[in-house]
Amino acid sequence: MSVHKEVKKVTTHILQEMKCDGEKISMLTAYDFSMARIYDDAGIDVILVGDSAANVMHGHETTLPITLNQIIDHASSVIRAVKRALVVVDIPFGFFQGNSKTALESAIRIMKESEAHAVKLEGGRQVKDSIERILSAGIPVMGHLGLTPQSIYQFGTYVVRAKEKEEAKILLEDAHILEDTGCFSVVLEKIPAKLANIVANEISIPIIGIGAGGGVDGQVLVSHDLLGITKEFSPRFLRRYLNLYEEIKDAVEAYIGDVKSEDFPNKNEQY
Ligand code: KIV
Repeated sequence: MSVHKEVKKVTTHILQEMKCDGEKISMLTAYDFSMARIYDDAGIDVILVGDSAANVMHGHETTLPITLNQIIDHASSVIRAVKRALVVVDIPFGFFQGNSKTALESAIRIMKESEAHAVKLEGGRQVKDSIERILSAGIPVMGHLGLTPQSIYQFGTYVVRAKEKEEAKILLEDAHILEDTGCFSVVLEKIPAKLANIVANEISIPIIGIGAGGGVDGQVLVSHDLLGITKEFSPRFLRRYLNLYEEIKDAVEAYIGDVKSEDFPNKNEQY
């Protein structure tokens, strides 16, 4: 069902309407102009300029090293391509934790310099002050709970979160705190489907899942995973729609062969 397909511009209010109407929200990451243009043209509802750019665009092992300047550069390229989708930008590690003034300054820089529509930040009660301060400037905030990759060195591994009762209870409380603080939506990453469904039922704002089952209000994937560009990463929750790594490799090998054999360019491919 896609009753909001004709919407010219997706806003946080439209996402709320989608939840109320039972229409699932589609969200994907993008980091550059060309890919964002394709996703927007395809009708994606939300584009996340994720700090996963640290991994898939910059080759880092974790999301921690990406800088504010880098994420703003990615976001500006995405924004120039997008006509319909809501564009949300991750605040990178070190630019909001433990200091709400820094959080506000980071969010303002993202909004002013990239012209994005909203920011996302990881964490629950511990980042409440930062969220409140960002909201006070009129900037919409998306939360992120469960597996929060910026805390990977605290977790130690990327395994499923909140499987135990105590952690599940804290996550549910945090979801309520994010809603009460004024977040317009929350991402739940890699938690049991049953728990994610409870959160989506208890919380009135849209809950977007990644590895959180189908009982939430929408789904997000890292686009490089969905397209099969990242070939080593294959968690259970990932559905690959293409095998672009091999397809691109085949195309480049064919090109190299054509150049070496002098098949390219032919008579019709020159002036
Ligand atoms: O940075 C990112 O890509 C994300 C998604 C996994 C939700 O935060």
